[in-house]
Amino acid sequence: MTEHVVEVKGLWTRFGRHAVHRGIDLRVEHGEVLSLVGGSGSGKTTLLRQMLGLEKPHRGQVRVLGEDLHQCEPSVLQRLRNRWGVLFQEGALFSALTVYDNVALPLHELRTLDEELIQDLVLMKLEMVGIEARHASKVPAELSGGMVKRVALARALALEPELLFLDEPTAGLDPDRSESFVQLIEELRRELNLTVVMVTHDLDTLVALSSRIAVLFDGRLVVVGTLREVVHSEHPFIVNFFLGERGRRALEAVWDTLGMGEDMPQQAAQGSA
Ligand SMILES: Nc1ncnc2c1ncn2[C@@H]1O[C@H](COP(=O)(O)OP(=O)(O)OP(=O)(O)O)[C@@H](O)[C@H]1O
Ligand SMILES: [Mg+2]
Repeated sequence: MTEHVVEVKGLWTRFGRHAVHRGIDLRVEHGEVLSLVGGSGSGKTTLLRQMLGLEKPHRGQVRVLGEDLHQCEPSVLQRLRNRWGVLFQEGALFSALTVYDNVALPLHELRTLDEELIQDLVLMKLEMVGIEARHASKVPAELSGGMVKRVALARALALEPELLFLDEPTAGLDPDRSESFVQLIEELRRELNLTVVMVTHDLDTLVALSSRIAVLFDGRLVVVGTLREVVHSEHPFIVNFFLGERGRRALEAVWDTLGMGEDMPQQAAQGSA
């Protein structure tokens, strides 16, 4: 039997009387990019935090890399943390630390590597994400938004994880920077053979990266499938999200592969004119 990289079963989450998740089941396969979409406040970040063992669900099970996160020993959870990387939605870097120290942090925390090796690794990771070594002594305030994201990605990859969690990786980036960051993620994913769980509301990012998409609505995953499967759903949230003007524009490049008929891109073109 093959283990799934992530397996969520019967998950319920409550904050006070408000049930954010009402029975979530989700499996993430090795090597795929699973994207989680849903309205603001629908519980995407919370679900991601539960997959990181940072938050405990009210009910249900979360298994990651073969371990039950909410049942295992703290030492097991700590070892697991060294096997995944995370890009958080906000506060991606420590503002008081230099670029170098931010990326070196997880390497120092291992307490097994000497400084010379750490230095080599940090410079290698920075090169990987396209940050020149001359920026290593800068603090985050001296970097552009796109550079901050790249450095945060370098830090997430510092321990050579097999699994990467991304929460709104392209939020706040202009379209050009967003596109090049998406390309970078895709290149690294292929090169490093990563499994990715991503939260995003950005349709271009979603279309460019997702192997499958899970749609969170009203506490449940209403559809989980490929882009093609998802856009054929008649769920009102999905119709609104994917087939509104912005959605159609994002889908235009892949329209022919979606089997949606021929008239839609024209309408999108008119809509954006
Ligand atoms: N620690 C907490 N205590 C109380 N309520 C919380 C807590 N964390 C999240 N919530 C609530 O749970 C709901 C889901 O929050 P979450 O941050 O997961 O949403 P999201 O889908 O990531 O939204 P966004 O798209 O805006 O990032 C929200 O109503 C939020 O207010
Ligand atoms: Mg969020």
